[in-house]
Amino acid sequence: MAPPCGLLLALAAAAAVLVAAGARAQETCAGAPPRRGARVSVASFGGAGDGRTLNTGAFARAVASVERLRAPGGAELYVPPGVWLTGPFNLTSRMTLFLARGAVIRATQDTPSWPLIEPLPSYGRGRELPGGRYISLIHGSGLQDVVITGENGTIDGQGSVWWDMWKKGTLPYTRPHLLELMSSSDIIVSNVTFQDSPFWNIHPVYCSNVVIRNVTVLAPHDSPNTDGIDPDSSSNVCIEDCYISTGDDSIAIKSGWDEYGISYGHPSSDITVRRITGSSPFAGFAVGSETSGGVQNVLAEHLNFFGSGYGIHIKTNTGRGGFIRNVTISDVTLDNVRYGLRIAGAEHQGGWADQGHRQLSLLPDLSV
Ligand SMILES: *[C@@H]1O[C@H](CO)[C@@H](O)[C@H](O)[C@H]1NC(C)=O
Ligand SMILES: *[C@@H]1O[C@H](CO)[C@@H](O)[C@H](O)[C@H]1NC(C)=O
Ligand SMILES: *[C@@H]1O[C@H](CO)[C@@H](O)[C@H](O)[C@H]1NC(C)=O
Ligand SMILES: *[C@@H]1O[C@H](CO)[C@@H](O)[C@H](O)[C@H]1NC(C)=O
Ligand SMILES: *[C@@H]1O[C@H](CO)[C@@H](O)[C@H](O)[C@H]1NC(C)=O
Repeated sequence: MAPPCGLLLALAAAAAVLVAAGARAQETCAGAPPRRGARVSVASFGGAGDGRTLNTGAFARAVASVERLRAPGGAELYVPPGVWLTGPFNLTSRMTLFLARGAVIRATQDTPSWPLIEPLPSYGRGRELPGGRYISLIHGSGLQDVVITGENGTIDGQGSVWWDMWKKGTLPYTRPHLLELMSSSDIIVSNVTFQDSPFWNIHPVYCSNVVIRNVTVLAPHDSPNTDGIDPDSSSNVCIEDCYISTGDDSIAIKSGWDEYGISYGHPSSDITVRRITGSSPFAGFAVGSETSGGVQNVLAEHLNFFGSGYGIHIKTNTGRGGFIRNVTISDVTLDNVRYGLRIAGAEHQGGWADQGHRQLSLLPDLSV
């Protein structure tokens, strides 16, 4: 009698695992987005969505009015259908930036007009070049309760001018991200598309309680360093149900670099990544290579990558310090991916900055 019984137990255990996996596949960190007490449209602040008018001032005035309104629960800044050309602008607390269906916030290609900001303390200099760095197209620092959402409107970085400067070696300073939020909490980014970022697409740094969900991130595979989503020295971050196809890692968990990151000492922790689909000439899911503040308590599951260099890439570099611990990765499907898993302590083939174009020459003979 013992063998059948054992078999039954095994089957029961298998069924329990299936049920658990099924339940987990449905899990979500989406809560109801906050209800705002007021709404303003960028069109009411002298803006024009004609693709030619520069709306930097209109966005700045609209955000200032959201701040001034002090509406209960905050206010929504509505971006109607149309192409809203703009330079960089800052967000404020308790606001929702809502992009209607057919709304495009498009970055100006007039690169000298982009303001510079200080380097991040955990990097000590621009990520690419010494000195300051260009501010991100959409930026926020020290904020609370910020939502960027809509009906799949697009935030378009028009990054090709920046990629060309990088390729020619004529960049004066480190390129801007498309969205960067610094030292902020209670962030939701959802139901929007990011495309053609000059540099990394979405960069929460020194943030907590961040949900990035149902977002599309697109850039050509030959665009340099256009990482999809890079949580950096941030905690309680949940990234789920996203499609990401760019020129560098789709998702990379970071925490500053070298002596700056070590002395700043701010880890990335409690990160959940699930149901991500995409394609990258580098990694689908990466930790590093900037890990100097430490990375811990990471769960990544139900990942589906195709046509990529690496499925999973855990990487650091000589002298980088920090730690990487308690990382769980499960239910990964890879199709036409050159390396399933790579764990590297000395990151000589780490990415564009180190390797330039050569890495891409690996792509034509991708195999499982
Ligand atoms: C995204 O869209 C879904 C479906 O319409 C909706 O339930 C969700 O609340 C939206 N997210 C935000 C942050 O508005
Ligand atoms: C936007 O925020 C950054 C960082 O906090 C700040 O340096 C910059 O001056 C702000 N820009 C404007 C136009 O307020
Ligand atoms: C995802 O966003 C799209 C619009 O971008 C929306 O139509 C859809 O309902 C959203 N799905 C979920 C699960 O939120
Ligand atoms: C949102 O728009 C992007 C870019 O046009 C598209 O690839 C994606 O499928 C759209 N997502 C939804 C949920 O409609
Ligand atoms: C490991 O990380 C998971 C989240 O992925 C967390 O729930 C768990 O408590 C962590 N374990 C330890 C020992 O910190």
